[in-house]
Amino acid sequence: MCGLLGAGEIGHGVTLNGWVQKSRRHSGLVFCDLRDRTGIVQIVFEEASQGALFEAACRLRSEFVIGVKGLVRERESKNPGLATGGVEVLAADMTVYSEAETPPIYVKDDDNADESLRLRHRCLDLRKPRMQRNLSFRHSVMKATRDYFGEQGFTEIETPALVRPTPEGARDYLVPSRVSQGSFYALPQSPQLYKQLLMAGGADRYMQIAKCFRDEDLRADRQPEFTQVDLEMSFAEAEDVMELQEGYLRRLFREVMGVEIETPFPRYSFREAMERFGSDKPDIRFGFELACLNDAVRDSGFPAFSGAVAAGGDVRGFRVCGGAERFSRKDLDRLQASARELGAGGLAWAKISQDGVASSFGKALRDGEMGRIVEALSGEAGDLLLIVAGESRAVLDSLGFLRREAAGMMGLLRSDVYRPLWVTDFPLFERDGDGCLKAMHHPFTAPADEDIGLLSSAPEKARSKAYDIILNGVEIGGGSVRIHDAALQSRIFGLLGLGEDEAREKFGFLLDAFRYGVPPHAGLAYGLDRLVMLLLGEQSIREVIAFPKNQMAACPLSGAPGPVTAEQLDELGLEAKAGL
Ligand code: AMO
Repeated sequence: MCGLLGAGEIGHGVTLNGWVQKSRRHSGLVFCDLRDRTGIVQIVFEEASQGALFEAACRLRSEFVIGVKGLVRERESKNPGLATGGVEVLAADMTVYSEAETPPIYVKDDDNADESLRLRHRCLDLRKPRMQRNLSFRHSVMKATRDYFGEQGFTEIETPALVRPTPEGARDYLVPSRVSQGSFYALPQSPQLYKQLLMAGGADRYMQIAKCFRDEDLRADRQPEFTQVDLEMSFAEAEDVMELQEGYLRRLFREVMGVEIETPFPRYSFREAMERFGSDKPDIRFGFELACLNDAVRDSGFPAFSGAVAAGGDVRGFRVCGGAERFSRKDLDRLQASARELGAGGLAWAKISQDGVASSFGKALRDGEMGRIVEALSGEAGDLLLIVAGESRAVLDSLGFLRREAAGMMGLLRSDVYRPLWVTDFPLFERDGDGCLKAMHHPFTAPADEDIGLLSSAPEKARSKAYDIILNGVEIGGGSVRIHDAALQSRIFGLLGLGEDEAREKFGFLLDAFRYGVPPHAGLAYGLDRLVMLLLGEQSIREVIAFPKNQMAACPLSGAPGPVTAEQLDELGLEAKAGL
């Protein structure tokens, strides 16, 4: 391979195949940089000794695909910037396999082409070293994953891609049935139900690297089709699942990154994560822990503080160590605007110096009050204090956001530091916009044993046996202990507003499976794309997927989704709405 040649090959004959990176003529010589998946090596064609071959070499252009036979020799002027820069290949023969038009994007990592152009010409884009590295790294992660879980007694079992539509969670992608017109399959949002059925089927330990499909709004870490590392274990409790995952991630980091991570991972209850970090996906690469200021400001002269506490809300804040100098008035105004978007009334700030405290709210305070605030936030000279007052949840959400923003500005979001953690004890339900109960994880998650009683009195207070695994502020996986009792499962469906008949119609097959002996079981699924993105330090999962969709859930390369003919629709018993 081009990128693997070195001093060891000097004097050897080689055959290389690849793409022309660039080719230049220089007084009787043609220098051609030949590239394959492993890298680049210089090929030399000499006019003096090679008439026709030299002429052919003069016609080479970028991205021509060629094969070259030649002799490896030491390079006169070495190129220390190139892995193969100590050698070159003197060509003796060449085949041009295909010519190339002038490419619309350069095949190099710093081409700066915009993403839509890159996705449109993905074949060229994938030739870049960075994309080659990303795809090959993804392969290593998948291989290490299969090896680990295989050794731990897991069997990889494929589950169907055409499944029954379930309106839970995100919107389904639907596939019309030709044979049963008017009926639809859905593409699976995850293999959740099938993996539970596999436990009832005696599979004991199941894993699958599974494609999942969700028709939801897209973001940098979301795709309409993505890949999960999906797992389920029989006769297992949360502890068993979590311990196994720590072993997996420790091994994965060691094998594919050469990095040792510490186990066991820290664990935070949902409540603790929210109160200390303002997020259920805490990033603990840096401190900036939140503190409650309610006691310090209950009788504040600043009405925004005292008013929030009197109204049953909260005043919380955190200290940005050494941040006083770093944040300009403009930065603080920008943070304030973002905090407002997240529902905070405003953002109060204070900069502590040796000479005293300069702040946005100091004038209104009573004697000694600033001292109490500084003390409650453990502020020291050089620190910036950021404080938000208002409705409790909005305060936490906006501080959670500000905490990460501030860390970014202080240069603390290092992509070479990895701090995985668990968040546990999530509420079983949350309320949707209409005040109805919705499963926070999914409807098959078991309630905490000690909270079963709350299901009849105050279901929104019940906690679940769900756990999420977070890496550097990103949810890389989540799972739970499942309900394996048909009566309890029916009760949960009822609380979610599914009548008995409706629950039977949608999930009867699961409830039936529970009638004939089902082991207690628990599991988890990782978002493989997100995990690979974080390990590579990429900012978007599109960088680790060969052919991703764009923000419109479309594939700019193939043009999917595309129109169908009237005949195809007719065959499916479908009609497009007028105007489409
Ligand atoms: P959940 O819905 O939390 O759980 O999904 C598991 C993990 O999948 C990843 N993920 C996504 N990645 C890219 N694009 C998306 N649109 C997307 N949606 C989710 C996340 C997430 O943590 N069946 C359960 C798992 C279980 O209980 O075992 C499930 O699907 O990293």
